[in-house]
Amino acid sequence: MTTTTTAPKATIRHLADFVGQTVILQGWLYNKSSKGKLHFIQLRDGTGFCQCVAFKNDLGEELFDQLGALGQESSLSITGEVAADDRAPGGFEIKVKSAHVYQAAEEYPITPKEHGVDFLHNQRHLWLRSKRQWALLRIRDRVIYSLRTFFANEEFVNMDSPIFTPNACEGTSNLFEVAYFDTKAYLTQSGQLYGEAGAMAHRNIFTFGPTFRAEKSKTRRHLTEFWMLEPEMAFAELEDVIQLAEKMIVYVVKDVLDTRAEELKVLERDFSKLEAVTGGFPRLTYDEAAKILEEHPDSEFVYGEDFGAKDETILSIMNDQPLVVTHYPASFKSFYMKRDETGTKALCVDILGPEGVGEIIGGSQREDDLALMQERIKEHELPMDAFEWYNDLRRFGSVPHGGFGLGLERFVGWISGVEHVRETIPFPRMMTRLTP
Ligand code: 4AD
Ligand code: MG
Repeated sequence: MTTTTTAPKATIRHLADFVGQTVILQGWLYNKSSKGKLHFIQLRDGTGFCQCVAFKNDLGEELFDQLGALGQESSLSITGEVAADDRAPGGFEIKVKSAHVYQAAEEYPITPKEHGVDFLHNQRHLWLRSKRQWALLRIRDRVIYSLRTFFANEEFVNMDSPIFTPNACEGTSNLFEVAYFDTKAYLTQSGQLYGEAGAMAHRNIFTFGPTFRAEKSKTRRHLTEFWMLEPEMAFAELEDVIQLAEKMIVYVVKDVLDTRAEELKVLERDFSKLEAVTGGFPRLTYDEAAKILEEHPDSEFVYGEDFGAKDETILSIMNDQPLVVTHYPASFKSFYMKRDETGTKALCVDILGPEGVGEIIGGSQREDDLALMQERIKEHELPMDAFEWYNDLRRFGSVPHGGFGLGLERFVGWISGVEHVRETIPFPRMMTRLTP
């Protein structure tokens, strides 16, 4: 009887477990250079990147030449011996013994040279494979995991809110309207109103899903489809909302530092900026922030209006931790926000990421009085009948409650240190981009 022994399959991320052994790696050719009887193949396998060295003498002429002719992104498996090597990127090198080519790729459009942003976004389905994009989406993945873990630890119940909705949550100017049989629906701007219903059933809940806004602005902070995580708590006031947000941010930033150091290095992220996020966030009221802006030479801020992107940048580079801004004028804030004792300011909070990132969180205590809520709905010229179910939450056991919404892409963008949110989502949707 003959037995054939095949080498175990390994992944680049776990090469440390295989030092000195022969393994099979399956992946794609990321880069290649040749020197006489040697090929240096940079293999990526989805879990990492690794240098593989192929000697002509070990492979024979035919296989050596086949590997030499392979272009970028050709798919192959490599059987080789794992060596620890401090000089190698990633810390390991593979000495190739044999190889199998799944497919010799056509000429790959994304080369190591510089490409324009628009070109790269047209190639997004392929661009995802590039090292920076790979690192970014692995950080996004971890941020989501970490957020879910945080809320599970805090005993919040995850509750899904609908995507087709009959009413607006965040103003009517940026609603996506869709035909819905013989009526019309809107794509959800926020799960909050449903989250409030959930909080009355489960006490503490969070919704997490895609949200949609027909943003006509072409800024680095806006997408038309983005993911929002929205906790909502019964028996909670503004201070509880702020403390939850702060605890969540500190938890997630630390977890990403602990688990995604390799990816943060790929992105050349300054670790010290994230290590500074330890809690005790600085706070300002809108009025205090207004004073700072009024004295700032670069600000065009007008008291009584919302901060512009430039104002947020000015405020958010002042500290090395996120900045908590509360008590904005109720006049330009959402209809559902409870007001302070003067009746002019909303019991609301925005959290601005540091380093000029701007708003990553918006939240508030909610109006819990039926008559006041009905007044607000009228003031905002919203259709009362569409909000009757929402008003019921004030009719049947109303309690102080509140929550916030975290924009996932802005949060990932800040943690990763990338300028534009469009790189933090696999397939970004913006006013001028619907493909691929
Ligand atoms: O401040 P916003 O509009 O708050 C709400 O929607 C509340 N209903 C949330 C709540 O209290 N449950 O949005 C929350 C966050 C913003 O701080 C921002 O991070 C993100 O969502 N966001 C966007 N991210 C990317 N592209 C856009 N167009 C965004 N609009 C808001
Ligand atoms: Mg906001």
